[in-house]
Amino acid sequence: MLNNFFNIVKTNKKIAVFVLTIAFSLIIIIDSVQSNQTYAIFEKSDFLLPEGKSRFVQEKSKYHYVGIEKCASICHNNEEMGFQYNIVKNSPHSKAFKILASERAMRYAKNANVKENPQESSVCLKCHVTGGGLDSSSFTSTYKKDDGITCEACHKGEYITKTFLPKEIDCLKCHNDSVHKMHKFDFNDKCAKIAHPRPKAKQKTLIRVLS
Ligand code: HEC
Ligand code: HEC
Ligand code: HEC
Repeated sequence: MLNNFFNIVKTNKKIAVFVLTIAFSLIIIIDSVQSNQTYAIFEKSDFLLPEGKSRFVQEKSKYHYVGIEKCASICHNNEEMGFQYNIVKNSPHSKAFKILASERAMRYAKNANVKENPQESSVCLKCHVTGGGLDSSSFTSTYKKDDGITCEACHKGEYITKTFLPKEIDCLKCHNDSVHKMHKFDFNDKCAKIAHPRPKAKQKTLIRVLS
């Protein structure tokens, strides 16, 4: 069979050219099918993007906060992910906006020379809501400031489909005494208090989600 093939090649150059053309076409077709599959993976998270923005435009333009409910509705409130939404929703961070209405908040505001309502003061909102201090063009309609400090305050990457794990320096942007005094910050200890790990058996998929 193979001998036959080479005989044909030897005797007929036209056929050889034909066979090579078919082979190259196949390589090109397979390659394009594979890159379409990669694109399909990106597209899964594309629905998060503000309307009319493709992922590639979004990469270069500014970030739009989608809010905790969106994170929950897509991936983060099921067994596989360890019900992270429920954990975060019941953590002190999710009360960060609400406590700005407390008496203690009024005292802190007074000491910091903030005359307006702390829930409306950019001085306080900077650390007490996700994306605090930014104007409304930075948020999609699903974002709510009542939710306080949410997923995107700690995991937001440069653009919306990119996430990352925070380090101590990311926490210290808020956990510092610049406006009012606070407890000593020990990174490991504080991380343990807000832990929302994924069940061990499911760790394999982490790389895909976080890369
Ligand atoms: C630099 C970031 C930052 C700014 C600005 C900020 N806070 Fe806070 N606030 C925090 C952090 C972090 C905590 C949690 C601190 C802790 O318990 O260690 C906190 C906690 C609080 C608490 C709860 C305190 C307690 O001891 O239970 C109140 C109330 C509060 N802040 C009010 C305010 C008010 C009012 C403003 C504006 C005048 C403000 N914060 C500005 C970061 C900030
Ligand atoms: C106050 C900051 C903070 C907030 C808010 C926050 N996270 Fe995290 N998240 C962390 C830290 C810290 C880790 C652990 C990082 C490490 O292990 O190095 C983590 C880990 C994770 C991981 C990896 C866990 C694992 O074990 O595989 C995922 C996924 C994640 N967070 C999702 C979320 C989601 C979804 C929300 C909102 C519902 C959220 N996070 C809110 C700080 C935060
Ligand atoms: C965007 C600002 C912001 C970031 C970033 C942030 N925090 Fe907080 N954190 C707060 C505020 C505000 C509170 C107070 C909320 C309340 O008392 O309701 C708080 C409270 C806490 C508390 C409960 C109070 C305490 O001190 O024991 C822990 C634990 C905590 N944060 C850990 C972390 C860790 C760990 C990180 C980084 C992975 C982090 N935070 C990043 C704003 C932030």
